[in-house]
Amino acid sequence: MSRYLVTAALPYANGPVHIGHLAGCYIPADIYVRYLRLKGEDVKFICGSDEHGVPITIKAKNEGITPQQVVDKYHKMMGDAFKEFGISFDIYSRTSNKIHHQTAQDFFKTLYDKGVFEEIVSEQFYDEEAKQFLADRYIVGTCPKCGNENAYGDQCENCGSSLQPTDLINPKSKLSGAKPVMRKTKNWYLPMGKIQQSEEFQEYIKRFENWKSNIKGQCDSWLKEGLQPRAMTRDLDWGVPVPIKGAEGKVLYVWFDAPIGYISATKELLNESWKNYWCNKDSKLIHFIGKDNIVFHAIIFPMMLQQHGEFILPTNVPANEFLNLEGDKISTSRNWAVWLHEYLEEFKNKQDVLRYTLTSIAPETKDSDFSWKDFRGKITVS
Ligand code: 2FM
Ligand code: ZN
Repeated sequence: MSRYLVTAALPYANGPVHIGHLAGCYIPADIYVRYLRLKGEDVKFICGSDEHGVPITIKAKNEGITPQQVVDKYHKMMGDAFKEFGISFDIYSRTSNKIHHQTAQDFFKTLYDKGVFEEIVSEQFYDEEAKQFLADRYIVGTCPKCGNENAYGDQCENCGSSLQPTDLINPKSKLSGAKPVMRKTKNWYLPMGKIQQSEEFQEYIKRFENWKSNIKGQCDSWLKEGLQPRAMTRDLDWGVPVPIKGAEGKVLYVWFDAPIGYISATKELLNESWKNYWCNKDSKLIHFIGKDNIVFHAIIFPMMLQQHGEFILPTNVPANEFLNLEGDKISTSRNWAVWLHEYLEEFKNKQDVLRYTLTSIAPETKDSDFSWKDFRGKITVS
C-alpha cells in the first residue's frame, strides 16, 4: 500500500464555482482519488478556499462590505457546490483560519531565519490620500498600446497587453482617484534565479520528464528564460501578516501563503500525523491544477519546500487546459459561465449527468468546449 496526498487547487473565494473549475481540476482529482481508494491505497484529498489576494479586497470595496464578509459568503457557496457534485475531499478548509496563518508565518520565518530571502527596496506607487501602497490592480490609467482609459496597472483588458503600472498614461488610484506618487518600500524576495542554479533544484526538475507535456513545456520555457527574484511580501492589509520586525503593515504574497494552505489543511485534518504525508519520502504528493497555476506548483512552491528542508516535493502536477463555453472563453467579469449553484437550481438532482459530460470532455491535453447541444446529445437516450 502506498501513501498519497492529493491536492486540488484552492479556489479564490471571490466568486462562485463554474463548470470550468469542475472539468479542469476538481472532477479529474476526484476520479483519481476514488480510483486510489478503490485500490485500497492510503490517500488524503485536500482542498479549501484561497481567501487572500487583491481581487477579494476590490470586490469588498465595490460591494461596501469587508473582505472577511466576501470570503465567508463564497467559502460556503463553494464548499456546498463541491459537496453537491460529490467531490470527495477529506477536508475543505480555508486560508483565513488561525491554523493557516500560524503555519504560513512559521514557514516564512524558517526561510527568513535560514537567510533564504533577499531584501530589496523598490519604488512603488503610493496613494497619499488613502495612505497606502497600491497593488497593480488598484491603479488605472490610459493604455499606451490602445488608448483604453480604464486599463489596469498589470493588464489592459481591451487589447490584452500585459503592463507595468509605470506604463500607464495618467495613472490614477482606484481607491481615492488621486494621482499616485512613487515611494520606496522594502520587501522580501525569493531569489528564484539563484535557487534555479542549485544542485538540488536541478535534481528535482528531472521529474518534469515524466509529467504531462503541457506542464513540461511551460516549465522548460520559464527555466530557459531564467527566473527573476519574486516578492514574497506585499504592502497590503488583507492577508497573513509578515511575522518579522520592520514588516509592519505588510502581508505574505497570496501565492506564498495559498499553497501552504495544503499543509495547514492537512494539519487540521490529521493533527500530529500530518507529517506522515508531508515529510516522509515514501509518500507521494500530487497537485491537480488548471494551466494558469503551473509555475506556482511546479516551480515556486517546490522551491519554497526545498529551501525549508522538511518537506517532500511534488511527485506529479497534473495540470489541465481550459474548458470553453459555446466556443468562448469562460469569464467571470463578463458573466459567461455555467455557475454550479444555478445549474443545481435548473437541473434538480442531475449532478451526475453534468459530471459525466464534463468527464467526457475534460480538457486534458488541449482546451475543450462545453455546449448545451452536446450536453443534450450526451445525456439523452433516443
Ligand atoms: O487560481 C486560483 O484560483 C488560485 N486561488 C489557486 C491557488 S492553488 C494553491 F496554491 F492554493
Ligand atoms: Zn490596451
